[in-house]
Amino acid sequence: MAGMDTDRRRPPDDVLVAAAEGLGAVAEHEAELFALRVARWWPDLRDGLEALHDAPVAHDLARRLVALAGRAFAERAPELKRLDQVRTLEPDWFQQPRVLGYATYVDRFADDLRGVAEHIDHLEALGVTYLHLMPLLRTRDGPNDGGYAVIDYRSVSPDIGTVDDLRELATLLRARGISLCLDLVLNHIAREHRWAEAARDGDPRYRRYFHVFGDRALPDAFERTLPEVFPDFAPGNFTWDDDLDGWVWTTFNSWQWDVDWSNPDVFCEYADVVLFLANLGVEVVRLDAVAFLWKRLGTTSQNEPEVHAITQALHALTRIACPAVAFKAEAIVGPADVVHYLGRGVHHGKVSDLAYHNTLMVQIWSMLAMRDVRLAVHVMGAIAEVPSTTAWITYVRCHDDIGWAIDDADAAAVELSGHAHRTFLSDYYSGDYWQSPARGLVFQHNEATGDRRISGTTASLAGRGVASDDEVVARILLAHTIVLGWGGLPVLWMGDELALPNDDRWADDPLHADDNRWAHRPRMPWAGEADRHVAGSVEQRVFNGLARRASIRAGLEHLHASVRTEPLEPSDPGILLLLRRHHHGPMLGVYNVTERRGAVPLRRLHDVGLDPPTALDVLTGTHPAAGVDADADATVEPYGAWWLVSDRR
Ligand code: GLC
Repeated sequence: MAGMDTDRRRPPDDVLVAAAEGLGAVAEHEAELFALRVARWWPDLRDGLEALHDAPVAHDLARRLVALAGRAFAERAPELKRLDQVRTLEPDWFQQPRVLGYATYVDRFADDLRGVAEHIDHLEALGVTYLHLMPLLRTRDGPNDGGYAVIDYRSVSPDIGTVDDLRELATLLRARGISLCLDLVLNHIAREHRWAEAARDGDPRYRRYFHVFGDRALPDAFERTLPEVFPDFAPGNFTWDDDLDGWVWTTFNSWQWDVDWSNPDVFCEYADVVLFLANLGVEVVRLDAVAFLWKRLGTTSQNEPEVHAITQALHALTRIACPAVAFKAEAIVGPADVVHYLGRGVHHGKVSDLAYHNTLMVQIWSMLAMRDVRLAVHVMGAIAEVPSTTAWITYVRCHDDIGWAIDDADAAAVELSGHAHRTFLSDYYSGDYWQSPARGLVFQHNEATGDRRISGTTASLAGRGVASDDEVVARILLAHTIVLGWGGLPVLWMGDELALPNDDRWADDPLHADDNRWAHRPRMPWAGEADRHVAGSVEQRVFNGLARRASIRAGLEHLHASVRTEPLEPSDPGILLLLRRHHHGPMLGVYNVTERRGAVPLRRLHDVGLDPPTALDVLTGTHPAAGVDADADATVEPYGAWWLVSDRR
């Protein structure tokens, strides 16, 4: 038995032959490096594929994939191969506190890819080292869901540039210390993509790329347990197509066709796209809507175990061909499900390196509206541990709407009604609630469930134009201080650094008119950006406040993502206490989510191992508990924040 196990750990000979064929003529040391990597990652690749297919099918697929990896490795630029080595020596690169993300659409940030290059200094001034450019591969004409309806994975949308421009930008960014992150839309393609066209033309090979049903029997059976992502503008999960003479699975819009990941040909297509992007110099691949990749009758067809097996196999493939690349899972799902995207159980450390901390984002807005941290502490304290080699993407908001993913049971645990609380948050952030300064918009009101998601920029949700500037600045900075102090990879959304309000002309573009997420995807007003140099302006206070926090963070080892964050039971319901037990010593984050003064008993500092009188708040360089009696409380200013560590000076 033991012998058999050892054999199974070794790549079979025909796989090695396929690898060599893929490689072609490369230098001997390169061939050797590649063979070592295949051997190292073979068990992960094989296990991932065997969770999807019978052994012979998995074997054949593995052979094809290793051949693709070989070819990609042979074609990989020397500079990128060097980066592979650097990252192999420094696998925690994305966990380091100096890493700061920024996300934007190319055409909203600049005119095109070349234009992005002209604004790198703006990113540098903030301390950005990671740039997520929203989907920029060629999309269908007409509505395209902000680029998430791709017709060609190997070309760039012509209005923003070419593949060569993209490669050049990636190279330039890398030279300036910024890693490029790009979306891989891998759950669906545009109905005008050539695979879909071929399917519509009757090619059976391509029909099998999709989930197509001749009648309503199965779609109806699936619909019984499927949620609706866009109930307003794209109800249902299937779309009739005359040419196909059938119903095709369309989770999102009717023109976004879900692909069938159980088809090995589909797997190879996407594996090849991952390798293509990696060889352009993309360092982080965002796996868009990854939760939806596997369909199963009687379920929501989200978060199925096979999704993680697919990710594991793709991840192993990148370790073999291009180990500089990291994966970021976009799974906006509940806390019990989301942890699996960073690897639990057999997938521990083998799937995505990064995943969105949607729960933290939702809880930040919930705390600010409630002036109460108890629900957040309960929910975040219950999140299972994730591998210490991974990191959460922390963010205040992104290009998508905010859905109030708050469980009834969690709400009940702190004596709230889940439904009433979600209703309150929608009312509050759409400005309907009494005295709410927030000016968000309701996105996708689901009549059946009563859910109302919210669109809006950070500044508009924080009350810009309604509340006083001081309050707005304080709320924006506090929300970001939590995100920066969490110990993940924080990503700022374009425009939030200048407190941009909602774009009130978002509906002028007829292609956007039915999707108010465009309200929080404004254009960068480069002319107005000058306001950040005007002393005392909101723009300046927010921009400088963020840049200063980012630079303090960059030097604070305690924020390395390998350490988990523990929310502590609050002493004052308005004050969030987040503890990080780092080997340099404890770090206590103290955040007042209210407009009132708050209090922290000194014994709370003492209890976590800080010496209260000398505990240093690195955000201000002061000792906020100095001079306070040991059995008394330290005062936290409205919306104040401290990052307390032991003073080693
Ligand atoms: C992701 C994107 C979202 C898009 C959807 C479909 O959730 O973030 O913007 O609508 O995928 O591709």
